[in-house]
Amino acid sequence: MKKLIGLYKTRTAIFISGKGSNLKNLLYFSLKKNSPICIKLIVSNSKKAKGLRYAVDYKVRKKIINFNNTQAENRLLKLLINEKINLICLAGFMKILSKNFIKKFKGKILNIHPSLLPKYKGLNTHQKVLINNEKYSGCTVHFVTTRLDSGKIILQKKIVVKKKDTENSLKKRILIQEHKLYPKAIIKVLAY
Ligand code: GRF
Repeated sequence: MKKLIGLYKTRTAIFISGKGSNLKNLLYFSLKKNSPICIKLIVSNSKKAKGLRYAVDYKVRKKIINFNNTQAENRLLKLLINEKINLICLAGFMKILSKNFIKKFKGKILNIHPSLLPKYKGLNTHQKVLINNEKYSGCTVHFVTTRLDSGKIILQKKIVVKKKDTENSLKKRILIQEHKLYPKAIIKVLAY
């Protein structure tokens, strides 16, 4: 990917499914002077995603897409190309993108996952970490490939799992780290 800081900002789309705290954090980050991205589109697979309210707050275009429908996905691809989107950040996005979609944006889709990949791919990561009495957990930003949560790792942050941790406390502590890690990973991908 091009080295862009100082020249122009990379036109970015964020894909969400739920609460959107990572989206909010990336919107805030994108408005910083030295941020390498500008967010041009927010995509959700569900109109119920709470995070969609940030599209209104930050005046960013939003699209709700039925990813089970190939034609709808193809229309989204066209929109992304028309909008000159050069980076897609998945942020709590719960759908699996088609192989065709991933191929079209090869090397330009990032995801954040709440575990120390390659451990605990998929769902219920915090539960699995606690059941296995792991000493550490954390979060990972990685490139998206056609294999779930398996693309090249960009950055990771490790935290200690405390004896009194519950799924909820772990989720909360890791989310705080996610909000720090995602912007750093974006800078790493675009600027270095
Ligand atoms: C985050 O923990 C993210 O890593 C995971 O889903 C959660 C989404 O949180 N994939 P939010 O919607 O960004 O608040």
